[in-house]
Amino acid sequence: MSRVDIALGARSYTVSIESGLLDRAETLLAPFARGGRLVVVADEQAWAAQGHRLGGLEIALIRVPAGEASKSWAELARIVEALLALGVERGDTIISFGGGMIGDLTGFAAAILKRGCGLVHIPTSLLAQVDASVGGKTAINAAAGKNLVGAFHQPKAVLIDPTTLDTLAPRQLRSGYAEVVKYGLIGDPAFFAWCEENGGALLAGNAAARAHAIETCVRAKARIVAADERETKRERALLNFGHTFGHALEAEAGFSDALLHGEAVALGMALAFRFSAERGLCPVQDAGRVEAHLRSVGLAEPRPFAAEALMARMEKDKKSSGGRLPFILTRGIGKAFIDREVAPGDVEAFLRRALG
Ligand SMILES: NC(=O)c1ccc[n+]([C@@H]2O[C@H](COP(=O)([O-])OP(=O)(O)OC[C@H]3O[C@@H](n4cnc5c(N)ncnc54)[C@H](O)[C@@H]3O)[C@@H](O)[C@H]2O)c1
Ligand SMILES: [Zn+2]
Repeated sequence: MSRVDIALGARSYTVSIESGLLDRAETLLAPFARGGRLVVVADEQAWAAQGHRLGGLEIALIRVPAGEASKSWAELARIVEALLALGVERGDTIISFGGGMIGDLTGFAAAILKRGCGLVHIPTSLLAQVDASVGGKTAINAAAGKNLVGAFHQPKAVLIDPTTLDTLAPRQLRSGYAEVVKYGLIGDPAFFAWCEENGGALLAGNAAARAHAIETCVRAKARIVAADERETKRERALLNFGHTFGHALEAEAGFSDALLHGEAVALGMALAFRFSAERGLCPVQDAGRVEAHLRSVGLAEPRPFAAEALMARMEKDKKSSGGRLPFILTRGIGKAFIDREVAPGDVEAFLRRALG
């Protein structure tokens, strides 16, 4: 088993990663039970596919419909009331089971229930295992946009069993893989080279490749989170590499199944590399390598988007983030940096060329 410590003083915790870990869930989860019972909030679909892994345990289960629409005020209220009806107390622990949606929603419920309950994540999607389950960000969506209401609430533990990915839809897996590649691109060229070699095996189900990638990403996120728990400094923003373009693309696609988050991020990362290369910041070969790898696994296929529409989306993001839209650009593979001086006109001209 690999263990990655998230060093946050009194809020420190350990992320455990092991294929088959859930088969020992009884021992691992025992410390979080009260009166022998565990309180679990589960994504319905993830639970149908993987819930049997917690089979031998006594569980009070709250099921949540799969899909981003469940990150809502209505579901939050329903879950909080259900937890109160179960008699959950402040010292108790709530367990989330599923992807990033359920982690964010359950995490927020845990943050506000009795002014803060314990939380354990059992992430079952690749995106949640390499990104959403670590770092303590929780949220629901509001009418004005995604993730606009939430809290920082660190879990007490994160339990990752890569074999849960066996039942994840291939497209979801590939979308999560975009975030895996991101860690290589922002600060770890050797890991990007590893992805070029092993990405295909990871996506095809190779357990060792999955475990290695997850551990590498969690270690990278652990370093960034430990240095900047509440995203007040620059470093944590690097995690948003590919996300400024990506978010605009997702919004244009109506945050629908037409374009999953990771698919948008993959396109966004390819664009960030090309933009950086055009500005003479990054070798053209690096941009080519990144695009070639993403294409080889079925990500970053060109899509028809209009430059003006994407600019309008980014303008909106800029307004909601207080008038600044820092771009994360790159000096090459593993060398992302934040540029706050990018002129909107340059971005628009680039997008017109890039999107033809
Ligand atoms: N808190 C953070 O730091 C952070 C970071 C990144 C993303 N997020 C959030 O995470 C969410 C996206 O996460 P996601 O991509 O995991 O989406 P998701 O939670 O919606 O899961 C994707 C789909 O996979 C299904 N699923 C999950 N695990 C499964 C399994 N093992 N077997 C079968 N089906 C399974 C789910 O039912 C769902 O249909 C977004 O809401 C995003 O805002 C949060
Ligand atoms: Zn992301």
